[in-house]
Amino acid sequence: MRKLIVYIAVSLDGYIAAEDGGIDWLNGYPNPENNDYGYARFFATVDTTLMGYKTYQDVLRLADTFPYPDTTNYVFSRSPKPEAPYVTFTNGDNIPGLIQRLKAQDGKNIWLVGGGELNTAFLQHDLIDEMIIHTIPVVLGSGRPLFAGTVQKTFKVKDIKLYDTGVVETRYER
Ligand SMILES: NC(=O)c1ccc[n+]([C@@H]2O[C@H](COP(=O)([O-])OP(=O)(O)OC[C@H]3O[C@@H](n4cnc5c(N)ncnc54)[C@H](OP(=O)(O)O)[C@@H]3O)[C@@H](O)[C@H]2O)c1
Repeated sequence: MRKLIVYIAVSLDGYIAAEDGGIDWLNGYPNPENNDYGYARFFATVDTTLMGYKTYQDVLRLADTFPYPDTTNYVFSRSPKPEAPYVTFTNGDNIPGLIQRLKAQDGKNIWLVGGGELNTAFLQHDLIDEMIIHTIPVVLGSGRPLFAGTVQKTFKVKDIKLYDTGVVETRYER
């Protein structure tokens, strides 16, 4: 069965973005061609992306063109949005039902891109099969957390990789 995977970069203190949504702190850890932190390999294993509306807005802001034109892309928002290229907006009323439907289809894995608010909803519904977390050796002090609220789930560590840059990649399985 296809898996639902979080692949994300996190500060030492568990934030995925600064308070204002900024991700400048990631600039010191670029994804050069010879060290993309496994991104190309990972991306080749997915055919569907899921993202919260704030992450979607950032993706559009940061890229000249939408970066995932060849995958099926769902953007979660509680309010109706006008149609946009490459994405389907969904209100998140029945996240478990949507994921059950997607997983029942043939295909590659599903990437839960983020951000933290959407990650939290998926964790609450226990829908995350795997997480590939890149821990950046930077303390932000405040920001938008990888997960928020009081949800508690346990994961098994399956693999750890240390990059020359000091970034640690940890693969967790539920
Ligand atoms: N470090 C990394 O690798 C990484 C990865 C991804 C994102 N980010 C950053 O994370 C930040 C965004 O994270 P975030 O936690 O603030 O926001 P987010 O999860 O990306 O988006 C939040 C929005 O998504 C919608 N949403 C969330 N949960 C929903 C649900 N259960 N049902 C329906 N809609 C739902 C709502 O949109 P509406 O308000 O429209 O209803 C909500 O305001 C950005 O700065 C982004 O750049 C960093």
